[in-house]
Amino acid sequence: MSQREHFGSRFAVIAAMAGSAVGLGNIWRFPYVLGEYGGAAFILVYVAASLFVALPIFYAESVIGRRSRLDTYGAMRKLAPGSAWKWAGLLTVVSPLLILSYYSVVGGWSVEYLFKSLSYSFTGNSTEAEVQNFFPQFISSTWQPLVSHTIFMAMVAGIVLGGIKKGIERFSKVAMPLLFVLIIVILAYAISLPGSFAGVEYLLKPDFSRLSADAVAAALGQAFFSLSLGVGTVLTYASYVKKDENLMVSGVETAVSDLVFAIIAAFAVMPAVFAAGIAPGSGPGLVFQTLPFIFNKMGQGMPLLSYLISISFFVTILAAALTSAISMLEVGVAFLVDEKGFKRRSATLLLAFCTWLIGVVCSLSFGPLSEVKLLGLTFFDFLDKLCSNWLLPLGGLVFTLFVGWRMKKADVHDEFTNAGSCNRRTFPIIYILIRYVAPIGIAIIFLSSLFL
Ligand code: PHE
Repeated sequence: MSQREHFGSRFAVIAAMAGSAVGLGNIWRFPYVLGEYGGAAFILVYVAASLFVALPIFYAESVIGRRSRLDTYGAMRKLAPGSAWKWAGLLTVVSPLLILSYYSVVGGWSVEYLFKSLSYSFTGNSTEAEVQNFFPQFISSTWQPLVSHTIFMAMVAGIVLGGIKKGIERFSKVAMPLLFVLIIVILAYAISLPGSFAGVEYLLKPDFSRLSADAVAAALGQAFFSLSLGVGTVLTYASYVKKDENLMVSGVETAVSDLVFAIIAAFAVMPAVFAAGIAPGSGPGLVFQTLPFIFNKMGQGMPLLSYLISISFFVTILAAALTSAISMLEVGVAFLVDEKGFKRRSATLLLAFCTWLIGVVCSLSFGPLSEVKLLGLTFFDFLDKLCSNWLLPLGGLVFTLFVGWRMKKADVHDEFTNAGSCNRRTFPIIYILIRYVAPIGIAIIFLSSLFL
């Protein structure tokens, strides 16, 4: 284990962790969920859910990962020898790969849209109908989305092949600052659009009447997905964090970056949605349908500006999706390398291929396989529901129960406080959150998935 790689600096830890957190979940999911459940009022619930449930799970995963310095399965095997916990660890090797298979399809859409932007398709040269029909035609066709999915997965594999320092760290350190700069530029552009104010208002006006139990469950689910919890990515990344890094600080910094990015993204996307006159609840296609429409319209007056902005926007989505996707693949790669003696190269290629294959079925489920249903859902929707509503919360529950009830309190204390040198006062609070509050929060997600 002595040659296990480490992130090279504090900034690298944050860039990688925040890179995993900031992704498609922030850019397309958050604005839409936010609008659906009462705008500003929802933000309050979301912040509370992040602080009291999501962050403790983040810490639980960090403690297991850094303590064991292993993959999710190996970590449980090492910290609870001879018990069945390792099988729970194995579950969280499988779930990120399932997420990656459909995430890569959406990542592929951003590749296609970037090409489209680069070839001036959204710069005033297309008719409104062309821009509007592009999305449904594109996703329901057979080959084009498959090619994009393949390109995206190849990029993910390419970065992960480079390893922790030369691959994941190097890419995240460039991509993360770039993402923040680009999203602010896009925000400035979006709020200057005529008709955009309605979008700002939509996000700012708190509508407490829509804050139902359902909204609380949605806030928790969003916090889970957005912070990449319950699928072992935080655990695996934490296993590459040096012993003298402060786990509490990196958790807060990751959560704050994720939240700030999500809010900026909401304010960048929603005004454009309103300016385009599109329904805010249009789901996964929202950003892909709305923004090209806006870019194209603006392009009729200011072609260069809209050209640059549209490229920036799709680079943002692509980079955000990549930094998240690499963290999903790394969980499985760490497992094969640590447990099965694989070389990083063969582990990466094998897993990228398997997830790519499942992704092919997801991609086709928008077109030729759209009639094939599992429990009434297309394959893509089925996997998304299975992961977000079940596997993520289940994984989160495993991690909190493990740290709160299985590990010795002294060991958890030792890891969280760097052997007593920091975070000593906050530890008792965090421990209660991990032991009681977070599992109850997760139970709420489960019950609401069952009954709502
Ligand atoms: N957090 C990522 C996003 O917001 C998604 C993700 C989920 C990444 C689970 C890793 C693991 O898009």
